[in-house]
Amino acid sequence: MKELNIMEATVYTSPNPLTLICSQNKDGTTNLAPICFFSYLSFNPPMVGFAAGKQSHTGKRVRETGKVIITVPGESMADAVMACGSSTGASKNKVSENNIEMISIDGRDIQIPADTRLAMIATLQQATEVGDHILHVCQVEKFLGNENTKGLYAWKGFGKAAPAEEG
Ligand SMILES: Cc1cc2nc3c(=O)[nH]c(=O)nc-3n(C[C@H](O)[C@H](O)[C@H](O)COP(=O)(O)O)c2cc1C
Repeated sequence: MKELNIMEATVYTSPNPLTLICSQNKDGTTNLAPICFFSYLSFNPPMVGFAAGKQSHTGKRVRETGKVIITVPGESMADAVMACGSSTGASKNKVSENNIEMISIDGRDIQIPADTRLAMIATLQQATEVGDHILHVCQVEKFLGNENTKGLYAWKGFGKAAPAEEG
């Protein structure tokens, strides 16, 4: 076998789970960031976790507000997801810059993209430093799914967003 670094290893585990994390900006608008470091953590209570780089605006806002909606983006979001991964919500509004159609759910402050396969409405329980990232452990209050929407995964490590059938 060949020795790999962690970035190369992510290519071998592709397709990787891909979430689009929705958090609230200070001005009330929603910020979006793709995150592959996502995992289910507990069935009862339902808990999930995601790790965001220490500089991430998403992580900062989730820690400040305690609220997050973790989504699995639909197929039409492929380009928008990659665009949201190359800029920070600290300095621009990614939703308006990328013309992403958003919807409100259950009267929450945080919106989600209209083309969403799964939404997990969650509250932050714990934030733990893990190397160069911060692991956000969240309790999910509600899961909302849309079975007619094809979800996106990350291919070639984190290099491309596409449905799972694409290979
Ligand atoms: C497919 C993909 C997966 C990514 N996964 C992660 C991740 O798991 N953790 C992370 O911190 N950043 C990840 N990123 C990078 C962030 O999305 C990127 O740093 C983004 O600019 C953060 O935005 P924010 O500052 O508005 O939170 C990923 C990017 C892409 C394109």
